[in-house]
Amino acid sequence: MPLPENFIQELKMRNDIAEVAASYVNLKHSGRSMVGLCPFHSEKTPSFHIFPENGSFYCFGCGVGGDVITFVRRIENLDYMEAVRFLAQRAGMQVPENQVDDGLAKLKVRILEINRETARFFHQVLLSPEGKPGLDYLMGRGLSMATIRHFGLGFSPSSRFGLVDHLRKKGYYPQDMIQANVAVRSQSDRAVDRFFGRVMYPIIDLRGNVIAFGGRTLGDGKPKYLNTSDTPVFRKSDGLFAMNFAKNTGQERLILAEGYMDVIALHQAGFTNAVATLGTALTPEQARLMARYTKEIVISYDSDAAGQKAASRAIPMLREAGLLVKVLTIPGSKDPDEFIRSYGDQGPARFRQLLDRSGNDVEYRLQKIKAGCNLEQPDGRVAYLTGAAEVLATLSSKIEQEVYAGRLAEEMGIDRAAILSQVQRVRRKAESSRRQKEFRTFQQQSAGVRDAVNPEKSANLRAANAEEALIAFLLSHPEAVREVSRRLPPEKLVTSFNRRVYRAVLEKAEEGGEVDLTGISAGFSAEELSSVARMLAQHHEVKATMQDAEEYCNVILEESNRLDEKKVLTADAQDIQKYLQRLREQKK
Ligand code: GTP
Ligand code: MN
Repeated sequence: MPLPENFIQELKMRNDIAEVAASYVNLKHSGRSMVGLCPFHSEKTPSFHIFPENGSFYCFGCGVGGDVITFVRRIENLDYMEAVRFLAQRAGMQVPENQVDDGLAKLKVRILEINRETARFFHQVLLSPEGKPGLDYLMGRGLSMATIRHFGLGFSPSSRFGLVDHLRKKGYYPQDMIQANVAVRSQSDRAVDRFFGRVMYPIIDLRGNVIAFGGRTLGDGKPKYLNTSDTPVFRKSDGLFAMNFAKNTGQERLILAEGYMDVIALHQAGFTNAVATLGTALTPEQARLMARYTKEIVISYDSDAAGQKAASRAIPMLREAGLLVKVLTIPGSKDPDEFIRSYGDQGPARFRQLLDRSGNDVEYRLQKIKAGCNLEQPDGRVAYLTGAAEVLATLSSKIEQEVYAGRLAEEMGIDRAAILSQVQRVRRKAESSRRQKEFRTFQQQSAGVRDAVNPEKSANLRAANAEEALIAFLLSHPEAVREVSRRLPPEKLVTSFNRRVYRAVLEKAEEGGEVDLTGISAGFSAEELSSVARMLAQHHEVKATMQDAEEYCNVILEESNRLDEKKVLTADAQDIQKYLQRLREQKK
């Protein structure tokens, strides 16, 4: 059952898309639209547009678009009903409940409840006699009771039904426990605990929901960590451990560590701005999430080879997200947790020193390249300088380039200008291949190739372009729908996707509903709505009139008739009969 039309329209009116977006994106006015750096992909020049007139947004870079609800869905990673609730809350409105079919939203709520109850249960077990091995383990690793409580750490009982029985008594169903991934289905088709005999680390999202768990063995059992698999409320590639605490510290930088234990030890030592990924390599989503809260990241990975490799992978991703990156190097083969503990009371002060001394990633990357080259040999020197120029070429600041070129020149005893001109060469090459790529994408897009939403577009460009222009016109001139629909029956539209959109527009107008992106959104997927938002964006600067609309209709009719004729040429006798019959009927 859909939400009432007037509720959705009021929701949209009270949540101005420019205002909502402005709390995530730095927007500047540009003509009749507003532009900023796209929050949905990494870019250096703004291609993210907001069109307040029709309440839509579109990014010309990544092709994501839609209305204010779509925007919130994407940026907060919510489903439709959650986004509606989010916006309703923002505007102080009441969502008309109970007539809504939101099966998935309800399942998510149940999973979150199960997770919360599970975290509570594990924590209580940890503090009970049954949890003594876990508590001993955590205390043995130097955690205070306050830290254990702060992070809500727990212990999963060794019996395979401890949690399942507890949740059942609380009224939860086995199938929901399995969906939450705190239980798994056994061969005899029963729900059994997924975690047993492990120290449990709850993972909490930015809104304070328990979304997942990490569980560590006490000994050397395998796997060392068992994490919640992806569930309807959890995607491990999106989350960051302790981000719920770190985001509130208001610090201008975040510390990115590798492990849960590192983060917990850092928080206990007063570095409450530490976070970690959830046992996976850093993803662009996580980099962008951090970029929403801070300007600078200090990577503090383990000093072993794996940690260093992970750091090299993370650096470009963080830079792409617009973050300043520093790399903290821990002496000896240690992780932050071991380092801090090895200095006892002095641990926090020692780590603070490392933090203050952490170089930026340019130095780090230069060091790496240098370590791989034999500077005694001319070949090795050339390799080092070439690699170094590639690093400097990634710097967008001229000053930074000059500074590092100066240092290199001194170190290697060669001319600074020579280094800088090599840097320029690399930059020009990168720039030209970037341009070429952009141009190819543009060409393909405007030629309609690779339009996944409307695959018929490429073969019917003229018609499809007119259809898109017409749809954009109608969505900003609802008063014209009646007139246009008289001229152009839906079946005349050539491409079936545009035909669907057109039909939705006519139906909305027929019902007397609001003809805009939100009004027609019900029957379309996110990708499809992005495509409609693109039509709006591409035609935004064109002030089309009713005359233009008539012209679009003529083109579509022409193309449609031409196609019909072509079909006649290839059709078999029976089809031709039908066609002639139709022509006769039309004449009558
Ligand atoms: P301790 O060994 O207790 O100090 O843990 P740690 O937090 O220092 O972890 P470690 O440096 O070994 O690994 C870093 C992170 O990788 C962990 O916090 C986990 O998120 C993840 N991880 C480690 N081992 C495993 C594993 O066996 N399976 C999975 N899924 N993740 C793991
Ligand atoms: Mn460790």
